[in-house]
Amino acid sequence: MKINNDFLWGGATAANQYEGAYDEDGKGLAIADVITNGSHTVGRRITWKNPVTGDVGTIGINGEPLPQGAQPAVLEGYYYPSHQATDFYHHYKEDIALMAEMGFKCFRMSVNWTRIFPNGDDEVPNEAGLRFYDDVFDELHKYGIEPLVTILHFDCPVALINKYGGWTNRKMIDIFHRYAVTLLNRYKGKVKYWLTINEINHIDRIPVMAFGTLETSLQGRAQMAHNMFVASSMVVKSAHEIDPENKVGMMLAYKPTYPLTADPKNQILILENEQKIMFYSDVMMRGKYPEYRLKMYEREGIVLDSKPEDYELIEKYTCDFLSFSCYGGNTVTVDETNAENVGGNFTQGVKNPYLETNAWGWSIDPYCLRLACNTLYQRYQKPLWIVENGIGWADELVDGKVHDNYRIDYLQKNIASMRDAVVLDGVDLMGYTMWGCIDIVSAGTGEMRKRYGFIYVDKNDDGTGTLKRIRKDSFYWYKKVIASQGEDLS
Ligand code: BG6
Repeated sequence: MKINNDFLWGGATAANQYEGAYDEDGKGLAIADVITNGSHTVGRRITWKNPVTGDVGTIGINGEPLPQGAQPAVLEGYYYPSHQATDFYHHYKEDIALMAEMGFKCFRMSVNWTRIFPNGDDEVPNEAGLRFYDDVFDELHKYGIEPLVTILHFDCPVALINKYGGWTNRKMIDIFHRYAVTLLNRYKGKVKYWLTINEINHIDRIPVMAFGTLETSLQGRAQMAHNMFVASSMVVKSAHEIDPENKVGMMLAYKPTYPLTADPKNQILILENEQKIMFYSDVMMRGKYPEYRLKMYEREGIVLDSKPEDYELIEKYTCDFLSFSCYGGNTVTVDETNAENVGGNFTQGVKNPYLETNAWGWSIDPYCLRLACNTLYQRYQKPLWIVENGIGWADELVDGKVHDNYRIDYLQKNIASMRDAVVLDGVDLMGYTMWGCIDIVSAGTGEMRKRYGFIYVDKNDDGTGTLKRIRKDSFYWYKKVIASQGEDLS
């Protein structure tokens, strides 16, 4: 079974986890630049300083608000993985050549907002930053690789957090739109696939880390979501006006959810969990707030600061396609008595007795992509794009080689499941970009040892390493998969 010729095979990354050069060539400070390293057991922290009192401190990344008067800041004595990351900024030519060698048809990357506008809302964009992405896109096109660009991936200029409190403020709508339009104009003809906001539903889990906000209450998160919906619709409108070739996608963190037992209460729990996630895609793909969400707002006394034009924009400018991340299924139960908790992509669930997990508790699920594709395609009937899937593993470099058969095994199962969705079920799937196609910093833990790549980067958790790039066994395997259009998974 083959996948169609025009299918966009490739890999995915994000600027804050890959680019490094956090203060070079005029780049400003972003939220990711003040997030420390952590591990599976020690959470990452956001460091802050109060410029008036001089107090310093840290908060966790899971929705804890910043103290009054505190501003995100780089402090002495902490290690910040984004500052160098795996240094795409200085290695992009070498890395893109390796991606081309694997046969990539597309490459998902994000733009660092503060490379373009160091403070987020500067009068003129930073030419050096714009030029860097010009060079990257030119290099990709040299090999016939189509860029897929995420405009906002776990990013927010710190200056905007300090000035406006972040996305709860309606001012962010126009500021973000202006940033996006700057990209759309500058890269017209070079980029035609865009994603507005990475994993927008993580507003509910990691609003400070992912989007930079000071207000994390339910009311605050509802307002953030609303402002982002309006901003994203404005970007869709402008993208189509600037170049009718542009296609703009939304990006959802999605995973099928399984009940641990047949207790119907588990099914209700799943329904409610799905509503929390699909609220975001319902608005961005269907163009209106779903009834279940409006009822919840009524019950909770949530009142949005909104204008009638917002709803017109949301309705008229829905996204052209839906992209999503999916690493494995999530299992839930209302009775947690004997259930073992496991991790996931910023979600919590319980151990599924039928699924293996990696060292970070993420499930290895041979069916998740077929299930996810069918659920989302049936609901929206719009093209889909799997923009994140993969497995983190503490690879070992032995005699200059990485034998990552566990990664090949995971990807064999996942790509077969995706292929079933396309070939057996007729899902309209635009492409597949494996997450972290070259080793980058883990968003959840800040570690280097949680590696996803086909390409190993010699860099350690403490920041040491030569940054040398080394092809893993999976590199040669993926090359074969792409060349056979997904037929040869052996
Ligand atoms: C997604 C993000 O949440 O999962 C990525 O979009 C992230 O930025 C990826 O890296 C994998 O998570 P982690 O924590 O293993 O890096």
